[in-house]
Amino acid sequence: MAKKDLSRANRILPEHIGIIMDGNGRWAKKRGLPRPAGHRAGAKNFRTITRYCNSIGIKYLTVYAFSTENWRRPVEEVNALMKLFREYLEEALRDFREENIRTRFIGDVTAFSPDLQALIKETEELSSDKTGLTLNIAMNYGGRTELCRAVNQLIASGKNEVKEQDISNALYTATQPDPDLIIRPSGEYRSSNFLLWQSAYSEYVFMNDILWPDFTTEDLEKAIDEYCGRNRRYGGL
Ligand code: IPE
Ligand code: IPE
Ligand code: MG
Repeated sequence: MAKKDLSRANRILPEHIGIIMDGNGRWAKKRGLPRPAGHRAGAKNFRTITRYCNSIGIKYLTVYAFSTENWRRPVEEVNALMKLFREYLEEALRDFREENIRTRFIGDVTAFSPDLQALIKETEELSSDKTGLTLNIAMNYGGRTELCRAVNQLIASGKNEVKEQDISNALYTATQPDPDLIIRPSGEYRSSNFLLWQSAYSEYVFMNDILWPDFTTEDLEKAIDEYCGRNRRYGGL
């Protein structure tokens, strides 16, 4: 097999990157700060990394912001996260206007308060004609719930035999390519219910010495370099 050109100028970028933005709480704890301070720092970093992905030509970025299981956290933490989402979306509506980023939400957003749902809708509508990066924000997202929803949709449509493509088409990510690379900082080596179906052949890069708020564009570059050096076989030789 020809040797891959791994120089940054010539490498073939992943088309779709997924990021499990984990480690905010530990980042705050290490500094003697309350956990919401970690979420705030994480949200700030999310903006930096998203802009960077757009600037280097990544086509799809899916970030895990709040899982279907995160409702199990103490109510104060959940409330702090909701407040932050609201602030973030208000800011994004202002700032992201200038950027060529199309923002979509994946997950059951009907569980959020009406004002947050209105912001989500406005964000999606205002960015729907952008042609650069497609950003999927996974909020109240869980891979298992997504699969159940897809199956129920297929049942309701009267299908009595289901093909793989039917399931893919009924997911939140329908029409998008599966993630090529999934990055998880913070030292946890699990998917935590992120993109279960779509990640069948994703390359995982787990980064155990970094928490999400400290994750830099150079860390992203390192993860992409690692991805570029992998040999994806999809079961073949
Ligand atoms: C990720 O950071 C953000 C959310 C899950 C909302 P965590 O809050 O899970 O941070 P750790 O894992 O406790 O450090
Ligand atoms: C996964 O992180 C969800 C998000 C980053 C939004 P968690 O911190 O919730 O995952 P577990 O509990 O460690 O598996
Ligand atoms: Mg965590």
